Amino acid sequence: MSDEPQPHSGPEIENLFAETRTFPPDPAFAAAANAQAGIYDEAAADYVGFWEKQAKERISWFTPFGETLKWELPFAEWFVGGELNIAYNCVDRHVERGLGDKVAYHWIGEPGDTRTLTYRDLMVESSKAANALLELGVRKGDRVAIYMPMIPELPIAMLACARIGAPHTVVFGGFSAEALSSRINDCGAKVLITADGGWRRGKKVGLKHHADEAVTQAPTIEHMIVVDRFGDGAHMVPHRDLWWHEIVDRQSEVCPPVPVDSEHMLYLLYTSGTTAKPKGILHTSAGYLLGAAFTHWAVFDIKPDDVYWCAADIGWVTGHSYIVYGPLANATTGVMYEGAPDAPTWDRWWEIVEEYKVSILYCAPTAIRAFMKQGEAIPEAHDLSSLRVLGSVGEPINPEAWRWYKDVIGGGKTPVVDTWWQTETGQILISPLPGVTTTKPGSATFGLPGIDADVVDADGTSVPNGGGGYLVLKRPWPGMLRGIYGDPERYKQTYWSRFPGMYFAGDGAKRDEDGYIWLLGRVDDVMNVAGHRISTTEVESALVDHKSVAEAAVVGKNDPISGQAIFAFVTLKSGQEPSDALAVQLREHVAYVIGPIARPKFLLFAPDLPKTRSGKIMRRLLRDIAEGRALGDASTLADANVVDAIRSNTGKAEED
Ligand code: PRX
Repeated sequence: MSDEPQPHSGPEIENLFAETRTFPPDPAFAAAANAQAGIYDEAAADYVGFWEKQAKERISWFTPFGETLKWELPFAEWFVGGELNIAYNCVDRHVERGLGDKVAYHWIGEPGDTRTLTYRDLMVESSKAANALLELGVRKGDRVAIYMPMIPELPIAMLACARIGAPHTVVFGGFSAEALSSRINDCGAKVLITADGGWRRGKKVGLKHHADEAVTQAPTIEHMIVVDRFGDGAHMVPHRDLWWHEIVDRQSEVCPPVPVDSEHMLYLLYTSGTTAKPKGILHTSAGYLLGAAFTHWAVFDIKPDDVYWCAADIGWVTGHSYIVYGPLANATTGVMYEGAPDAPTWDRWWEIVEEYKVSILYCAPTAIRAFMKQGEAIPEAHDLSSLRVLGSVGEPINPEAWRWYKDVIGGGKTPVVDTWWQTETGQILISPLPGVTTTKPGSATFGLPGIDADVVDADGTSVPNGGGGYLVLKRPWPGMLRGIYGDPERYKQTYWSRFPGMYFAGDGAKRDEDGYIWLLGRVDDVMNVAGHRISTTEVESALVDHKSVAEAAVVGKNDPISGQAIFAFVTLKSGQEPSDALAVQLREHVAYVIGPIARPKFLLFAPDLPKTRSGKIMRRLLRDIAEGRALGDASTLADANVVDAIRSNTGKAEED
């Protein structure tokens, strides 16, 4: 394991503090904003009462709840005894009040095909899909795994599960067969919904063969439903596999939403922690929906005629909360795009904004930096004047990218909301409110109303303005995870043991002289690559799983586009010779075991790894080597020659 975690003190901190400009909200925007300044005080005066009121206003209940919050640290129950249905709240109730013809999603396939789904379409399609699941024996509480590209059947499948109270676990389509089977096995899913594949950069990316391979290792799966995206046919296993169009299309269009308890499991979403085993983050129904819907309304200032585009993949939590549940609960019109931002050219996103008159855009800093690199001329060739709010998520946004986003994409007039949250938090917790908060480029600013976010030192004491330390949350919130599936001990250990009574997020943070919070990246063994969390330990396990590898250590290296890049140090077994071919093989091996997102960008063969006398790998030194900076304290190193041997080699690490 690593040295004692410390907030990173890399050059990015100096950058942050070089930025002194502030941006107050535009008065006209502020006057019409959904969330007004008074909301902070209202929530601070009685946060439980605040959420109670929100829950009564925003959720349609089949049975009203009693107690608002039952808090037995670290286990929360929100809206105790209430009954609701998430699909009803996201779809049916809007149709009932006359919004059946409102567009829920403008879907755009990468090759240029499009589909428009109204709220009525979503109701009908999710009902048919739910009836198909019922036909296959799925009942309330049974888990369903979903492994799909960004096609309309993905949110439809999620809503179908929610309609019958079957928790889903969506596995990002970029994960490997092995990653898929381990998640299915952890939760014991009965049915897998997948597709033949999806389009990415002009190529067909197949999923069905991964799904087949996964299911050979996942005995709980009884059936697979397969969407036909390509129309080329696929190998179907008789009795087990069913085409979506065959089983779903013939179902009844009516499937009454099943009432579930407020605390009924809505979904599991697996995320990386500091060990090789991903954690099944458990989200329940009412609190999660409220957290997603309230923040979507307040942070993005959603109005009935907005066209909102969250450019994440639904396979990550951002897509769950801010493509599916939050926006649909608010009856929003959304854009959903299947493919890559540069397919066929870097104009693609801006063409979409122009054509659909997108008014709110939410994406990751990695994407913004990638666009910056292509130059201003590309976005400037398009009419982006429909944009009125821009959001950022997933990693710290550097001030240059923040300003570029505001000036070049937002024409200098749009507020930028830098939103901090996690798979575990379910909802945005730290962010400006666009009509209230004076922003500073690079700062996520303050905890949202009802949220008590703080920065504490190693002893858990709140740091004064100007201080740095660890980000914690001092109160429960409705969208919070309810646990790690099947592992309450790990839940307590991971989040609630570092600072007693507080939720520890694993992020370093600073609070500046004005009290603004600046996120500084992970302080544990988790990397943030293009806004995706990847555990160093998981990549190391994948490497040592290869027959030539004796030992591996993985660190995150700062990267101008993706935030961090994966840097692997590999020691081979005796008799194995380092070679370029082997480096390629090892990278492919990691991609095979975890998925292409985890393929190391840098891979360096090292005769030995720097260790303490007690045999602990000194990652801190490896990080220094990876960054090419002067070594920190190396006095506890057992053999100083090891570091010299590695350093003399670093130029050869980068992938061609
Ligand atoms: O390190 C923080 C970073 O992403 C982590 C959570 O990753 P994940 O669960 O995959 O969820 C990402 C999307 C919500 C956090 O612990 N992070 C997320 N948003 C920000 C951020 N870091 C800095 N600024 C942000 N706005």
